[in-house]
Amino acid sequence: MTSANERETVFTYGAPALKYGAGSSDEIGYDLTQYGAKRVLVITDPGVAATGWPRRIADGIAGYGLEVEVFDQVHVEPTDISMQKAVDFARGTGPWDAFVAVGGGSSIDTAKAANLLTSNDGELLDYVNKPVGGGRAPSAPLKPLVAVPTTTGTGAESTTVCVLDVLALRVKSGISHLRLRPTLAVVDPRLTVSQPPEVTAAAGMDILCHAAESYTAKPYTEFDRKRPEERVPYCGSNPLADMFAEQALRLLSWALPAAVRDGSDLKARQDMALAATFAGLGFGNAGVHIPHANAYPIAGQVKDFRPSGYPADEAMVPHGMAVSLTAPAAFRFTYDAAPERHIRVARLLAPDLEWPGDRSEYLPAVLINLMREIGIPNGIGGVGYAESDVDELVEGTLKQQRLLATAPRSPGRDDLAAILRDSVVLW
Ligand SMILES: NC(=O)c1ccc[n+]([C@@H]2O[C@H](COP(=O)([O-])OP(=O)(O)OC[C@H]3O[C@@H](n4cnc5c(N)ncnc54)[C@H](O)[C@@H]3O)[C@@H](O)[C@H]2O)c1
Ligand SMILES: [Fe+2]
Repeated sequence: MTSANERETVFTYGAPALKYGAGSSDEIGYDLTQYGAKRVLVITDPGVAATGWPRRIADGIAGYGLEVEVFDQVHVEPTDISMQKAVDFARGTGPWDAFVAVGGGSSIDTAKAANLLTSNDGELLDYVNKPVGGGRAPSAPLKPLVAVPTTTGTGAESTTVCVLDVLALRVKSGISHLRLRPTLAVVDPRLTVSQPPEVTAAAGMDILCHAAESYTAKPYTEFDRKRPEERVPYCGSNPLADMFAEQALRLLSWALPAAVRDGSDLKARQDMALAATFAGLGFGNAGVHIPHANAYPIAGQVKDFRPSGYPADEAMVPHGMAVSLTAPAAFRFTYDAAPERHIRVARLLAPDLEWPGDRSEYLPAVLINLMREIGIPNGIGGVGYAESDVDELVEGTLKQQRLLATAPRSPGRDDLAAILRDSVVLW
């Protein structure tokens, strides 16, 4: 029995099975036979399809005698409408025994939704987190999902969430449930080499923020004690997630600028793929906080920003870019709650930088130097927002209570407005 306000003493860890390394994606057909799969749907987006890897993976699967089809119409930064198209396709052509997602977070999340809604009845919005959707939990188990990331970023191959834009409400939200976690993550760094430099940079900042936010997250011991049925995948910073975050930051310190500078640098690509995997395994269990909470309205309320390196047909602020733009100001705000952790993140990212000045400015300075070096826009002003947009952005951030609850220092409305105002122009 636990009494009210007793502190948490338990943390949890969950992860998919993992295969890492050059050549791992050639073995997926074999892995699927081990799950007893006979009919398999490969899910990808047009840009990734153009690299030839999804076809090659599908042919490899067919080589093991399985029936395989490719759906290559995933929308980059998926929406409820685009996910519905994938779901309709999967429902119309099913039943499927297994799914294989080949792509970045957009393809992996779309595959999670297709898997959910072919294994369970109801509609997408029924399952989207409250208050945007119905917050329904899947009642039936999902099919095996093999996730093959082609970006070095989201960690979606490890996590239990699927992120989407609900177009009618102009809000990003998600579906979050343990059953969404892929069965197997296949991380083959060869597939990441063709990422454009802008995607490498934005997705790389996503890795960095996963690691830095989970490392500075409110410790699991500071939450109220949960009953077994109340446990959630994100339990706050904890020793296991810390270990993954530290390793990810160490790798990023050299590999992120190197991979942006020269995409054909295989060593940098390998270390970026490892960093993304480590950070995913860490934040997937600890959680992220203010920069990610701000990223939802920054992406969801986009005006007419069209980043190079991404599909040109519509305005978007890519996830990793949206996350990074308020990170310097957010870490300035959270510094006092865990000074040593903020300093440690800065040291791991920039081991050679001497910092004799105000210690609360150390991590923001490291982030800004790196963002300038890899070509991230100069603040939310660089993606089309002005000070006059701050109030509406704050409204959007306040809807992300699940993320804000993981912040080491809880931000109120005025704090969030100050963070966003500080982020209009970073340098
Ligand atoms: N589920 C999660 O845990 C989680 C976590 C963070 C972000 N996300 C979501 O993931 C999405 C972003 O995913 P992302 O940053 O991985 O990028 P992405 O999947 O949106 O892809 C970005 C662009 O890069 C292209 N691309 C991807 N890999 C390529 C390659 N190897 N070669 C050439 N082009 C390539 C794609 O075609 C696309 O145009 C967002 O919707 C975000 O909200 C999900
Ligand atoms: Fe992220």
